[in-house]
Amino acid sequence: MKIFIVKDYLELSTKAANIIKEEIEKKTNLILGLATGSTPEGTYKELIRMHKEEGLDFSKVSSFNLDEYLNISYSHPNSYHAFMDEKLFKYLNIDKNNVHIPDGNVKNVEEYCKDYDKLIDDSGGIDLQILGIGQNGHIAFNEPDDRLYLGTHVTNLTESTIKANSRFFSSIDEVPKKAITMGIGSIMKAKKILLLANGEKKAPVIKELLQGEMISTQNPASLLLLHPDVTIIVDEEAAKDYLSQKK
Ligand code: GLP
Repeated sequence: MKIFIVKDYLELSTKAANIIKEEIEKKTNLILGLATGSTPEGTYKELIRMHKEEGLDFSKVSSFNLDEYLNISYSHPNSYHAFMDEKLFKYLNIDKNNVHIPDGNVKNVEEYCKDYDKLIDDSGGIDLQILGIGQNGHIAFNEPDDRLYLGTHVTNLTESTIKANSRFFSSIDEVPKKAITMGIGSIMKAKKILLLANGEKKAPVIKELLQGEMISTQNPASLLLLHPDVTIIVDEEAAKDYLSQKK
């Protein structure tokens, strides 16, 4: 596991975007795994700048998003479809046919989830997976539990995640209670993983991750410790509990 502790969110975003850029330059038809949430927004901004000012080319890049709320319309401003469009896709020359985001409005959702994993496998698998992390250690929407699904599936969001995500909605009652999410197995199949975390709210969970001593399904992100190619970039605030126990 490569760990970078950087000064602030700006540095985190620039570093993450540079890693993504390098991978696209090495492989023009890169398959990216993309995340939503506030954490990658700065990285996406920097990728847009790189596209506009440096000609970073997304025309052959494909993407698979981690998750989407269940039964939310695509046009809802808080759907992950709308988020990705607003924060990234509409500014890039990415081919919309190569963009994949789980569809929370399908009829046969079980079959759809299996097909989503198959589509990823058939396309050659994710080359670089971007991840944020929830305060409770969730990655995508894999919430802490005794048992975790390997494949893409429908999941119930925990109270703490509903509360954390309510900042994007006008009231907590509006936050969807279920989501489609790639499973831990789908994520672990990615060739490279880049996990980002900023801000002091993430400090306790980041401490556990950076200590790297234990894995637990109660901290889904800890399972990444078993992956052979993970890079973690955190800002000083997110690393503060880890750094203070080291002193
Ligand atoms: C959301 C998403 C995750 C994201 C996490 C952290 O619920 N499903 O993919 O990583 O929560 O969000 P944020 O980056 O806003 O802290």
